[in-house]
Amino acid sequence: MNLILLGPPGAGKGTQAKEIQVRHGLVQLSTGDMLRAAVKAGTEIGLKAKSIMEKGELVPDEVVIKIISDRIDEPDCQQGFILDGFPRTLPQAAALDQMLARKKKRLDAVIELKVDYNRLVERIVGRYTCATCGEGYHDRFKRPKVRQVCDVCGGTEFTRRADDNAETVTTRLMAYYRDTAPLTGYYYCKGTLRTVDGMAPIGDVAKEIEQHLAEARRDG
Ligand code: AP5
Ligand code: MG
Ligand code: ZN
Repeated sequence: MNLILLGPPGAGKGTQAKEIQVRHGLVQLSTGDMLRAAVKAGTEIGLKAKSIMEKGELVPDEVVIKIISDRIDEPDCQQGFILDGFPRTLPQAAALDQMLARKKKRLDAVIELKVDYNRLVERIVGRYTCATCGEGYHDRFKRPKVRQVCDVCGGTEFTRRADDNAETVTTRLMAYYRDTAPLTGYYYCKGTLRTVDGMAPIGDVAKEIEQHLAEARRDG
């Protein structure tokens, strides 16, 4: 199965992609994570992307299209993948259609996570991740069971993203509503859009997604 998780910053794309990855053996492809890795490694792409991401703007289409096109050719993606944070503009969506057709792959479902914008800010500014394994947490909504100890790997160091501050969030939301929101119409017209209530608790959102995936399997 090949899926897209669509939704504004903080909607829960990464959180749900990780759950689907475990349940269905699909690979999570987060362009945000890949770009952050490139920034950390100081690659050419990373150097280009760093200041754009810190401002909360979008990295140029051709850069992310190339990243995804190369990545989905790798062997681990042949069982299926979850696109998290890509496509984010209409040109990226059109490029994805073309690359999937060329590679003889299909898109099974586009899951839109719908969340009110005031809730998004709250989610983003409270978010942090385990520095060792990358597990995501939240100051209020998802705390480790033992304070300051990662549930998954036992790590005790945590990090916060450079763009997770109240100022940058506004720019990120503007970019979403300007460039990415039209994609819901695009996929609605193609008949692949499935909308989920992203305001519900994490486990309930996961259940609703499961129902949609079961339906998509039946329909496909
Ligand atoms: P990216 O990394 O994709 O960031 P984003 O879209 O801003 O989304 P987030 O990762 O902030 O949110 P999420 O939906 O994954 O939420 P999460 O699950 O963490 O992109 C970063 C930057 O890279 C962009 O600004 C851009 O510059 C660049 N970029 C990336 N892709 C690009 C592209 N295709 N084109 C151009 N530029 C690109 O959840 C958030 C928090 O809420 C967590 O703490 C979580 O625990 C909590 N939470 C999740 N679900 C729930 C729930 N149901 N209830 C309560 N809390 C919840
Ligand atoms: Mg994310
Ligand atoms: Zn960890």
